[in-house]
Amino acid sequence: MYLKSLHLKHFRNYSDQAVEFTAAKTIIVGNNAQGKSNLLEAVSLLATLRSHRVSRDRDLVQDGASIGEISAVCDRHASPLELKIRLRHEGRRTLAINSVTVSRHLDFLGQVHAVLFSSLDLDLVRGGPEARRNWLDDILVQLEPIYSNLLQQFNQVLRQRNALLKTARQSSIAPNPEQMLLWNMQLAVSGTRITRRRSRLVQRLIPIAQHWHNSISGGSELLEITYAPRFDFIETDPPEAIQLAFLAQIQTKSIVEQHQGTSLVGPHRDDVNLTINQTPAREYGSQGQQRTLVLALKLAELELIESVVGEPPLLLLDDVLAELDLQRQDQLLGAIEDRVQTIITTTHLGSFDAHWLNSAQVFQVKNGTVLKD
Ligand SMILES: Nc1ncnc2c1ncn2[C@@H]1O[C@H](COP(=O)(O)OP(=O)(O)O)[C@@H](O)[C@H]1O
Ligand SMILES: [Mg+2]
Repeated sequence: MYLKSLHLKHFRNYSDQAVEFTAAKTIIVGNNAQGKSNLLEAVSLLATLRSHRVSRDRDLVQDGASIGEISAVCDRHASPLELKIRLRHEGRRTLAINSVTVSRHLDFLGQVHAVLFSSLDLDLVRGGPEARRNWLDDILVQLEPIYSNLLQQFNQVLRQRNALLKTARQSSIAPNPEQMLLWNMQLAVSGTRITRRRSRLVQRLIPIAQHWHNSISGGSELLEITYAPRFDFIETDPPEAIQLAFLAQIQTKSIVEQHQGTSLVGPHRDDVNLTINQTPAREYGSQGQQRTLVLALKLAELELIESVVGEPPLLLLDDVLAELDLQRQDQLLGAIEDRVQTIITTTHLGSFDAHWLNSAQVFQVKNGTVLKD
C-alpha cells in the first residue's frame, strides 16, 4: 500500500491543503504548533479511525467550521483506492471508499495500515495502563477490524453497568440483583472477547519485540512483556472458562464496586507489564534505555502488521527521530529501508543522517500550509 495523496479540509489548523507523496520518505519540517502532528494524526485516523490525542470529533474539525474532511488516495495492489472521512462538529462522522458511503467502521478499517511513533509513546513505558491498552487496541482494529465492534459493544455494556452501580450508590441501595447478574454476564462475555484478543496479540508481539530490543540494546538486557488482566487465566483456556474466571472475580469485587459505584473488573482495567531484567521498565534505566524499549515495541508493531497484512504499513514518525541518537536512527533506517513508506516530522533537519535527506521529499509546514522545500 502506498499513500499517494492526502487532502485536508477544515481539519485542525488546515483549511484546504492537498499533499502529494512522491518518495518513499517524506520529511515535514516546521516550527512548533504549525500542523506537523495534525497531518500525521489525519493519516493515522485513516488507519484506526481513532485519534491518539482526542476522543471527540469536534476537536478535529477546524475551529469555526462545522464539517472537516480527510481524503486520501492510495495505491493498493496496483489499483487506486480513494478514502474519505467526514467529521462533524455536531453529529456522526461519515466514511466513504471510492465515493461509496460505508456505514460501518469495520468496513473502512483494514484499508490503510499505519504505525504512529510519537513522543507520546514514551507513555508506553512511563505512563499509566491506558496508554498501553490503547496501543494494543490501535493494532487490533487494524489487524481485525471486527475488534472495533467488539470494543464498542464492551464499552456500551460497561457504561450501562456503571450507570446502574452509580445510581444505586447515589440512592444508597444495593443494585437490583437480577439486573446486576444480567450485566455481569454481558460484561464477562464481551470483556472476555477483548481480553483474549489483546492477550493473543501480546503473545505475537513478544518474540519480535525481544528480537529488536536485543539488537538495539546490544543483547545485554532481557525484555519481558505480559498482558495483565484483573484475573488469572490461561491463554489456551476456552472462552467459557475465561468468562467463569471473570465472573468469579466480579463476585469477589462486588462489595467494593457497590461502594465505589463503578466496574472494577474487565479489560478497561487491564495492563501490559513491561519488565527489563525483571525490573518494571519504568523504573529501569535511563531515558535512553526507555526510548530503546519504545522503539523496539514500535518496530515489533510494524513487523507484525507487515507479516499479517503481507505488505508494510505506513510509518509515521512524529518528532521522534531527532530524539534518537545516531546509532538508533541507523537501526531504524536499517529496519525500514525503502520498503516502508515513511512520513517524518521534525523542527529541524540538522540531526538527520545525510542518507535520509538525500532520498527524501521535504516539505515545510507553516500555520496549516504545506509548501515544497
Ligand atoms: N480544531 C482546531 N482548529 C483549528 N486549529 C487547531 C485545531 N486543533 C488544533 N489546532 C491548532 O493546531 C496547532 C498545533 O498543531 P500541531 O500539528 O500539533 O503542531 P506541531 O507542528 O507542533 O506538531 C495549534 O496552533 C493549534 O491551535
Ligand atoms: Mg507535534
